Amino acid sequence: MPESVKHPARMLPAIAAHAVAAYTNPGDLVLDPMCGIGTTLVEAIHAGRDAIGVEYESRWSDIADANITRAQGQGATGRAAVMRGDATRILSLVPAALAGQVALVVTSPPYGPTVHGLVRPGADGVAKFDNAYNDGTDRGNLAYRDLTGLADGFAQILAGCHTLLRPGGGVVVTARPWRKHGQLVDLPSAVIGAGIRAGLTPVDRCVALLAAVRGGHLVARPSFFQLQQVRRARTAGTPMHLIAHEDVLVFAKTQPPTELREGRQ
Ligand SMILES: C[S@@+](CC[C@H](N)C(=O)[O-])C[C@H]1O[C@@H](n2cnc3c(N)ncnc32)[C@H](O)[C@@H]1O
Repeated sequence: MPESVKHPARMLPAIAAHAVAAYTNPGDLVLDPMCGIGTTLVEAIHAGRDAIGVEYESRWSDIADANITRAQGQGATGRAAVMRGDATRILSLVPAALAGQVALVVTSPPYGPTVHGLVRPGADGVAKFDNAYNDGTDRGNLAYRDLTGLADGFAQILAGCHTLLRPGGGVVVTARPWRKHGQLVDLPSAVIGAGIRAGLTPVDRCVALLAAVRGGHLVARPSFFQLQQVRRARTAGTPMHLIAHEDVLVFAKTQPPTELREGRQ
């Protein structure tokens, strides 16, 4: 749906489609506990898989619902449902019968506002827009926690997912490193730690380039805000590299979950 573009951090559809094709079979169940406007769910049902999503903000879950209806109208054969709620308590949101049924979790945690949004030139420089999940007052949205809080919340979500996954099931997480006030915020490493705490086994770490191919060459398409940080640092004499990728982290359910389970930490 056109309003999907207002979401500040959508997953690249090609990553979701690739993960679903690589790790599941038709008829399998795919889960996204932080589904935003439903990119992963739409790709799953277009590939003949069923899908369940959870999203904290009704603004995005309503759009996810509409995107699913639209995909089904375009011939997607899978079934999908979206639940609005806090995925750190995912086991109290989804039917108990789903325990051990999910083949693949595909998701991405929210990350800082310096990575998000679009810019529009104005008289006083550039103005940001579409760069927020909500108005910033509701701390239940993990986007407004610091890195430690985000990693803790994400570990709780993954622990719930661990229960829902079938043995041998997989988890694919996209996570972008970014810079805040010139300092690297290493979200991918925090996500790996969260996965391990949730009882998952890291099995692969890939790179998805944020780039286009033009005339046979890769042209980086980084976030405007990240580009701005690098320009400032270089102007001040710091030889900073531009981040133009996100990590794609792959985990498997190969061992029992650790003590981190829903309701106790
Ligand atoms: C990076 S975005 C995911 C975008 C999604 N993959 C898409 O393509 O639309 C992370 C999402 O997590 C949601 N979120 C944040 N905290 C949450 C929570 N506690 N439970 C469920 N969803 C949450 C945010 O509102 C945001 O939509």
